Amino acid sequence: MSEKRSSFTGKIGFVLAAAGSAVGLGNIWRFPYLAAKYGGGIFLLVYLVLAVTFGFALMCAEIAIGRKTGQSAIGAFRSLDKRFSFVGVLASIVPAMILPYYSVIGGWVSKYLAVFATGGIHEAAADGYFEGFISKPVEPIGWFLLFIGLTALIVLLGVEKGIEKVSKVMMPVLVVLTLIIAVYAMFMPGALEGVKYYLTPDFSKFSATTVLSAMGQLFYSMSLAMGIMITYGSYMKKDVNLEKSVRQIEIFDTGIAFLAGLMIIPSVFAFSGGDESALGKGPGLMFITLPKVFESMKGGTFIGALFFLLVLFAALTSSISLMETVVSIVRDKFGWERKRTCLGVLIFSIVLGLPSSLGFGVLGNITLNGMSILDMFDFASNSILMPIVALLTCIFVGYVLKPKALIEEIEVSAPFKAKTLFTVVIKYIAPICIVLILVSSVLDALGIMKI
Ligand code: TRP
Repeated sequence: MSEKRSSFTGKIGFVLAAAGSAVGLGNIWRFPYLAAKYGGGIFLLVYLVLAVTFGFALMCAEIAIGRKTGQSAIGAFRSLDKRFSFVGVLASIVPAMILPYYSVIGGWVSKYLAVFATGGIHEAAADGYFEGFISKPVEPIGWFLLFIGLTALIVLLGVEKGIEKVSKVMMPVLVVLTLIIAVYAMFMPGALEGVKYYLTPDFSKFSATTVLSAMGQLFYSMSLAMGIMITYGSYMKKDVNLEKSVRQIEIFDTGIAFLAGLMIIPSVFAFSGGDESALGKGPGLMFITLPKVFESMKGGTFIGALFFLLVLFAALTSSISLMETVVSIVRDKFGWERKRTCLGVLIFSIVLGLPSSLGFGVLGNITLNGMSILDMFDFASNSILMPIVALLTCIFVGYVLKPKALIEEIEVSAPFKAKTLFTVVIKYIAPICIVLILVSSVLDALGIMKI
């Protein structure tokens, strides 16, 4: 990188920047539909346990690697041990796989904002509206192009600092609005069943797939296992308390995901009249239930429009940072100038995103074990590539670099309270669990073996 590496100013600057990358569609769109699909309370419980163990240890490790080396993923692994440079390369593939389909969903959010802003609330809340929209061949692609084009434009002009400033104001508003909608949703007739489903773990629904999905979601939501946190760590000053920052990012990210689930899952129960199959709607869940909630609210058009606007901002800050990552990797590798790289990444992402969009209509017959094309991209990145990167990171830190090296880095700023947990998770628990879960659930997904 030719520019000088700047640092985040102040202590809170780091946490906000990392939280800005972490909070996005993963929290509001992805978490609730997974929780609904994988048994509600049991998914939530597994997720929380993983967050305070795996998530915590891995985020500490990634940020410490970044701060220690002062480099982003590929360079960081290379400078620590040449044999492990490939882990950095592998990690860098993930954002390139996520960006295209992330932008397809970003397009859906833009469409819903437009519909609400133009008073189409009843239309949007009607049964079958969402399925009708995403199965169209042209319109969703138009919104996808708009979303990714806007992302590319912001990355190209380098005005993301402005967007980030706006989003720092909008993020707290999003939290408050989500809270209001969640409380409202919980009191709708029939919603209490949903609250129960979401909050009480049913252990009979526990399976390897539950754990793998929760783990994939954890990586995704916290932007782990793709080199992002290494990059953020490289910008972190040595006097910022690393452990405390990780805790704060985790609480923030998990808190928003939890609220989003509380907003969406009870509504599913309220509007499906107790029909549990409505929970399995997958990626469309947020777009199917929330319009119905808004329709039943006083001032629902305004609240709905505001909500989708805020979600759009959260999605944009994430897609910008995803694209930035891909752009900087390509530039480092090929030495292209910025404009050319942006254009290249844009075209690549459009080509990769088109099938994800068309997979709900024209290409609807292409499925793998019930997964649409978008689900396949999501599965390949979150449930396969990211666990592999996480596993390699743990092996590298646990047995090659040794946890001590990172503990020392973390202790530069303050004593590392959870260092025993960190060591045990990185060396033993995480690697063993990841291998077991990965193997069993890949077999499961391919339909070879049911566990
Ligand atoms: N964590 C983001 C979310 O919850 C999504 C995401 C994954 C992301 N990887 C990223 C965002 C990298 C920015 C950078 O939506």
